[in-house]
Amino acid sequence: MTTSPLAELSAHVAALLARIDAATTLHDLLAEEPFIIGKRSILSTLQKSLGALAPEDRKAAGALLQEARRGVDEAFMTRREGLERENRAAALEADRLDLGDVVVSQVSVPVAVGHPGIVSATQRELEDVFVAMGFTVSDGPEVESDWYNFEALNIPPAHPARGMWDTFYVDLGEPETVVLRTHTSPTQIHLMEQAVAAASLPIHSVMPGRCYRRDTPDARHLAAFHQIEGLVVDRGITFADLAGVIETFTHAYFGSDISSRLRPAFFPFTEPSAEFEITCTICRGEGCRTCSLTGWIELGGCGMLDPAVLDAVGIDGEEWSGFAFGFGIDRCAQMRHQIADMRALIDNDVRFLRQFS
Ligand code: PHE
Repeated sequence: MTTSPLAELSAHVAALLARIDAATTLHDLLAEEPFIIGKRSILSTLQKSLGALAPEDRKAAGALLQEARRGVDEAFMTRREGLERENRAAALEADRLDLGDVVVSQVSVPVAVGHPGIVSATQRELEDVFVAMGFTVSDGPEVESDWYNFEALNIPPAHPARGMWDTFYVDLGEPETVVLRTHTSPTQIHLMEQAVAAASLPIHSVMPGRCYRRDTPDARHLAAFHQIEGLVVDRGITFADLAGVIETFTHAYFGSDISSRLRPAFFPFTEPSAEFEITCTICRGEGCRTCSLTGWIELGGCGMLDPAVLDAVGIDGEEWSGFAFGFGIDRCAQMRHQIADMRALIDNDVRFLRQFS
């Protein structure tokens, strides 16, 4: 007759209970856990050996073992809870303020949590739409040289188009050589220069950021405002790609009932150029005061990259072509949230701002 593997069971259980008692800190107890109730416990080893028993003996042995395990588990948990309670009490005692009879009872006032402003939130949403279309997001400086803001964009010093941008000049070095950028288009130049230097064409990127013009603030203009620029330089890019990107963006951002249309326009750095308009979001195309009864609202400019711009950055216009677009982020926020006066965006009136959390 073979001896049952459970012959020594009660001795094992007693040894495990003694181990539980011997652990005086939570840390010690948890370190013992695998050996007492875990996989490396003698009880787990015994469990496996039950397979060697004759089938008729197995059931009774299994029940015996189960009961032993339950007892050990319970003792372990009870000890664990006791040690945890002791730890908590010790921590509270250590933190106690000894003020004699004074009772400390601080009332906590709920803290108002801030949230991104409408323009930042709009910028992020616009970035998300373009990232989903395969664009990267890039950044450029707000203080620019005349070359990046104008010349490289085919706007030479005496060009009448400079009149389109009432410029803030920065008093640094030669007069009228350093400017606060009047649009995000100079970032196109930085990006193309970097891509040429790194031989990393093509480019599919959007460039959001702050711009400045000497505009008197009114319901639709701010002197510091935000634009998002788009630039694609690749092989075989056509005007149809440009129109497709604008239309896809318009649906993705404003909704499927808002469409875009392009109207001939002039920009020195694109040829041909267009202004793009979207269905008026106030009247949904019916015609209202905001859209001067046309049903359309102008959002920005766009066009195919002018060969002179590609030349300025050293890109071969025979091999590469591309398009650019740029439009106002503040204007988008205004259209999307139907904000009558853009100056509300910079008033910092919390009653206004809270509506957009
Ligand atoms: N930079 C132009 C503006 O601010 C917009 C534009 C961007 C036009 C890119 C064409 C291409 O008015």
